[in-house]
Amino acid sequence: MSQNVDTGKRRFLTAAASVVGGAGAVAVAVPFVSSMLPSAKAQAAGAPVEVDISQLEKGQLITVEWQGKPVWLFRRSDEAIANLASLDSNLVDPDSQLATQQPDYCQNEARSIRDEVMVMVGVCTHLGCSPTYRPELAPEDLGPNWKGGFFCPCHGSRYDLAGRVFLNMPAPKNMLVPPYRFNGDNSVIVGENYEGAA
Ligand code: FES
Repeated sequence: MSQNVDTGKRRFLTAAASVVGGAGAVAVAVPFVSSMLPSAKAQAAGAPVEVDISQLEKGQLITVEWQGKPVWLFRRSDEAIANLASLDSNLVDPDSQLATQQPDYCQNEARSIRDEVMVMVGVCTHLGCSPTYRPELAPEDLGPNWKGGFFCPCHGSRYDLAGRVFLNMPAPKNMLVPPYRFNGDNSVIVGENYEGAA
């Protein structure tokens, strides 16, 4: 990878962090990145996108574009990871049995390769709106049982912090986890499968 690539990505992450930091205690800004490498033309053709997550703080979410879709990468707190199992009885597909919604290597409670880092296509499975990131606990508008997740503003679907949809929502299934793999500790390649996995 060239020096230019690294510099560009560092600039992006710095900008993303400052936007989130200024968003206040409740709302969390979701920066959208349209200029990640490789080129826009290659991306449109479906090329993998490499994302530097070295500065991604717990609770923070960044958005990149892959195959014309927003892909979220966020770092879950230990508490958020621990809370996932407690939600199972309220979810449509807690065990991620619908195979179309994630690669085999993410068919687990956290729907991820590493519990801490979540990678997900940020598109509601109802009619395709982009849900809002709501990581806070028990906000007034989402109720006392809310343990962080995503709320779709179009028709009210709710998802947990693994993208699993709650029961009795307009959305029928969990949000999509794309193929991805880690390239060392601090880099994620969206669009390439985890080594050795189908
Ligand atoms: S598009 Fe998300 S609830 Fe309808």
